[in-house]
Amino acid sequence: MENENIIGLACDHAGYELKEKLKDYLTSIGFTVKDFGTNSCESVDYPDYIHPLASEINNGNLKKAIIICGTGNGVSMTANKYINVRAALCWNTEIAKLARQHNDANILALPARFISEKEATDILNIFLNTNFESGRHSRRIEKIRNIL
Ligand code: RB5
Repeated sequence: MENENIIGLACDHAGYELKEKLKDYLTSIGFTVKDFGTNSCESVDYPDYIHPLASEINNGNLKKAIIICGTGNGVSMTANKYINVRAALCWNTEIAKLARQHNDANILALPARFISEKEATDILNIFLNTNFESGRHSRRIEKIRNIL
């Protein structure tokens, strides 16, 4: 059963330290975290951690998640293979706000090597607290599915 209070987290080695900080932050503000790893700074392949998380978003077991690698690109590319995933790479709060308002992003992808912990926390708060605007944007995100 989908639970809005549970947030998925996954990362590679480049995102490990930030994941741990965001995990503590999310817990401190009352969320339950489902942590898909990785769980150290040892080098790993990010798809091994992102596929299990994206699968849970795809099947509706999780509603929102945060994924982190060095640039945010590898993790978002992996997650966006899933039809019901809309992973948005966000490096500031304005982009995060629009990713929710216009794109109904259900996964936030963060570039750990290019943002501070404070910036990441600010982006995360916007991601969690901004609603989808619906209307014309519903039509557009539906059309994302229409590959040629
Ligand atoms: C790891 O060095 C790095 O390639 C990875 O964290 C990510 O940025 C890939 O997209």
